Amino acid sequence: MALLEVRNLSKTFAGSPGVIDVNLSIQSGEIHALIGANGAGKSTLMKLLSGAYQGDQGEIYLNGQRVVIENPVHGKELGIHCVYQEVDTALVPSLTVGENLFLDCLPLIINWKTLFREAEEVLQKLNFPLDPKRKIDSLTLVEKQMVLLAKAFMQNAKIMIFDEPTAPLSGPETKILLQQICNLKEKGVGIIFISHRLQEVFALCDTLSVLRNGQLVLNRSVSATSPEVVVEAMFGEKRADGFVKKTASVGDPLLQANHLSDGGRVKDVTFQLRKGEILGIAGLVGAGKTELARLLFAASPRQQGDILWEGNPMYFSSPKQAIEAGFALVPEERRGEGLFVNESIRANLTLPILKTIAPWGWIRRQKEREHGQKIVDALSIKASHLEFPVERLSGGNQQKVVIGKWVGSDTKVLLLDEPTKGIDVQAKKELFYLLEELVAQGISIVYFTSEMDELAAISDTIYILYKGHITKKLGKEEMDPQTILYYASGGTNQDETDSA
Ligand SMILES: Nc1ncnc2c1ncn2[C@@H]1O[C@H](COP(=O)(O)OP(=O)(O)OP(=O)(O)O)[C@@H](O)[C@H]1O
Ligand SMILES: [Mg+2]
Repeated sequence: MALLEVRNLSKTFAGSPGVIDVNLSIQSGEIHALIGANGAGKSTLMKLLSGAYQGDQGEIYLNGQRVVIENPVHGKELGIHCVYQEVDTALVPSLTVGENLFLDCLPLIINWKTLFREAEEVLQKLNFPLDPKRKIDSLTLVEKQMVLLAKAFMQNAKIMIFDEPTAPLSGPETKILLQQICNLKEKGVGIIFISHRLQEVFALCDTLSVLRNGQLVLNRSVSATSPEVVVEAMFGEKRADGFVKKTASVGDPLLQANHLSDGGRVKDVTFQLRKGEILGIAGLVGAGKTELARLLFAASPRQQGDILWEGNPMYFSSPKQAIEAGFALVPEERRGEGLFVNESIRANLTLPILKTIAPWGWIRRQKEREHGQKIVDALSIKASHLEFPVERLSGGNQQKVVIGKWVGSDTKVLLLDEPTKGIDVQAKKELFYLLEELVAQGISIVYFTSEMDELAAISDTIYILYKGHITKKLGKEEMDPQTILYYASGGTNQDETDSA
């Protein structure tokens, strides 16, 4: 008997299919991938299973028993746990790992010794290398995810659903998380794993389902399919191969950053950016990429160093001045910093170009709509109309709006911080072609990421950021993902070690 079975489940929204007539079953100890383009309905299905949404139609069965999941608390009681991307909101940062594990039953356990011993036992059972006495705020992201996994396990999770858990992780951390998910599988937990990274899906999962426009279009064991078949199912047609970069003609030096420090993570960073160049900054999670991007955008104070623009010192001390100087930042934290979530797609996309479309103070609606539509098309933003509120877009489509905002503005230097987090493979390719178009117009791009294969595909030059320092510069001929990862993980110059 299936652990979880979904029959004819549907949930529609005004102007969007959501999830349509989905049938699915999952066994104990099975890792089931849920795949689909941005807006295909993955998160909606997860919310239906967690009790966050109620279906319009259909039934859910647990061990053969029909259940009506009233809300997420009820869902948890039934054994269905979700791990959302915002792990921080699910943990208390000032408390220890052990305390967080027992948070929901703290009044019952007053003996600290017992608490830490029991926490230790759970972590050992799962093979999680974590000290229960450590404070949550000292943990890395993947360690926090582990705490949530252990907590769900302790609360008798039968089904665990992960919505893009690896999106914010770099390669080495992803490996750790996938290993922990395998440990849960061994304990008989049924797992639903949502991801845009097909490689890890094929490495980790037993079975997979592909959603397209809310409908289930493929449901198979992983060994009986291939990435090509999956991609075809996702988009409904055969897709040409990946992105191929044109040979770029990079211009003269534009910006010189000298010995930049922010008094925190960023330490003595020096680099040069040329006109029409795509400069990659490679670094693992915690290397200081976001901090460096924010420093360049004057979103955090510069403690030391200077920035020269065509040889002349630049002084600006706020993002507003940075924007006036021609900088734009696509931040990693899109919801907080990059979007007006209550506003429409149109409003978000046209805000930065208001000067152009409203030269005399009134907005030319026609221009505004044309501009908005152009970007929606270029990045395949999936929404029924331009007035759709950004809040209700799927995660990946929100990310596309953040990027699209700065296209067509007076931007001269575009800073992109992990821009492909959460966007599907096709959208990624479209983004790369868009970036290529932008550099052809003379815009310079600084691309911060831990996705080494993306950097290898798109960059003209790569600088490695390791613990806040630039430790290496790579030219075109040295740019393969392994080499980049080697240096980004703290590897040193082979020649230097040889001669030392
Ligand atoms: N509360 C809502 N109101 C209106 N439409 C919604 C709402 N929630 C989701 N949708 C729509 O349902 C569709 C599916 O969204 P969902 O978030 O499930 O996509 P997804 O597969 O998770 O995509 P992504 O990969 O981008 O995260 C989208 O078109 C989205 O705009
Ligand atoms: Mg989603």
